[in-house]
Amino acid sequence: MKKLIAAALFTFILLVSCTPQASTAPAIPGTAFSTAEQIAQGKTIFENSCGKCHKLPDPASHNPVQWVGIMNSMAPKAKLTDEQHQWVYDYIVSGKK
Ligand code: HEC
Repeated sequence: MKKLIAAALFTFILLVSCTPQASTAPAIPGTAFSTAEQIAQGKTIFENSCGKCHKLPDPASHNPVQWVGIMNSMAPKAKLTDEQHQWVYDYIVSGKK
């Protein structure tokens, strides 16, 4: 089962990376489309919204692919808009403190 998921992910990344004009959403792991300003906004939203129910997670605790799934389940909990979801994701994977 894990193998299947890995294969599906790999195919997805391959497909996306072979499409030159891929749209900016959904987020492609490891690719930053956001400006420094949006990443800074993401940080603020992250700090204000993501520590409410549990302690603020460490961005380094998961890889960018894992964060896609986590953000998909956490963004609705934090009531983020699609844009905020994207900014928070970009902040997390940007490696910026
Ligand atoms: C309304 C409450 C709530 C908010 C707001 C919230 N979370 Fe969570 N979070 C949870 C709960 C409950 C769990 C554990 C159960 C689960 O995984 O659904 C969790 C688990 C997690 C985990 C652990 C997942 C894993 O697989 O180890 C991470 C990381 C996380 N949240 C990140 C975030 C981020 C980032 C945000 C902000 C966008 C956020 N959370 C906002 C309730 C919340």
